[in-house]
Amino acid sequence: MPQQNDITNKRKKEHIELCLTKKVEFKEKTNGFDNYEFKHFALTEIDIKKITFFTRFFNKKINYPFLISCMTGGTSEAENINSRLADVASGLNIILGVGSQRQALEDKKYHNSYKVIRRKAPGIPILGNIGAAQLTKNTSIDQIKSLADMIEADAMVVHLNPVQELLQPEGEIEFSGLRKKITKLVKELRLPVIVKEVGSGISKEAAIILLDSGVKGIDVAGAGGTSWAGVELLRSKNINDSILWDWGLPTSFCIREVASLKKKFNFTLIGSGGINSAMEMTKAFALGSDITASARVILQTLINQGEEDVIKMIKDWFNVLSKVMFLTGSKNLKELKTNKIFKRESLT
Ligand SMILES: Cc1cc2nc3c(=O)[nH]c(=O)nc-3n(C[C@H](O)[C@H](O)[C@H](O)COP(=O)(O)O)c2cc1C
Repeated sequence: MPQQNDITNKRKKEHIELCLTKKVEFKEKTNGFDNYEFKHFALTEIDIKKITFFTRFFNKKINYPFLISCMTGGTSEAENINSRLADVASGLNIILGVGSQRQALEDKKYHNSYKVIRRKAPGIPILGNIGAAQLTKNTSIDQIKSLADMIEADAMVVHLNPVQELLQPEGEIEFSGLRKKITKLVKELRLPVIVKEVGSGISKEAAIILLDSGVKGIDVAGAGGTSWAGVELLRSKNINDSILWDWGLPTSFCIREVASLKKKFNFTLIGSGGINSAMEMTKAFALGSDITASARVILQTLINQGEEDVIKMIKDWFNVLSKVMFLTGSKNLKELKTNKIFKRESLT
């Protein structure tokens, strides 16, 4: 009988392999950014040289409001990937999330694949990661504290992935008690808790429940980028469920919906899900994100081209952002979020 940690290890390897070699993006549905256009402002007086992106993320200063989304940990390959991602994140002084720390709970031999990040990047904000399925099982708050300590995490991420678990051959879909467990975690962890999806989006209704329970950050991880239904359908070869490949709420929709809650709640909104280009990132900010994030495009660029190219790509994206800010008359991101983007349909 294979051990639980061997099964998890094999699955993690397959996820990385599929994300690097197969078409795992949404088929028809897009992230929605294409429906938006910036309002050109011909009277701009912005001094583009004065635009900077320095900001704070909880207690730390960062150079760009950007997160390399939670991806790996818990396999032999993961240690190498995480070490390289840590070099990129520390080179840019941005936020880095580790992949699910489930395996660290299952076996000590995987601890180094996570710890390497803090060793390589002592100064950046690092996010721990645990799945909803682990949270509702018998994982104690003390165990989660130990996962956070392992990487000296600045915040703990809980990922919600019901579609993925539903379609995963070995998936776990008993989520009863999840909301209570999130509330308990928020109360007892003594670190900010961020909740994210993995590519099907967080609705306004779900966000209200999370924010009411004291969650400090929401990463919408909307539809239109990597389809985790797709990844699991490729693993299981179960064609009966292919109808669910494109399941989820487009990223642009989620950002707008959740951003509207800023009037009532104080939280960090992370916009992600299929942000694969400068213009998609720029629109994610204009629609209301405080931080933007990407996953698969970073992994692909890292593996196919290397660390320097990932650093260059992210810097290039922020250069485009500053040009858009110049052209829309926005001296900072707060101004870019104020009525600088509109739906294309209203052009006519
Ligand atoms: C190889 C890979 C592994 C991932 N593993 C995790 C994980 O362990 N925990 C998690 O919260 N999200 C995980 N994700 C999901 C991403 O963090 C992200 O939310 C999702 O892929 C959507 O972003 P994208 O369209 O930019 O890829 C993973 C993504 C990739 C590409």
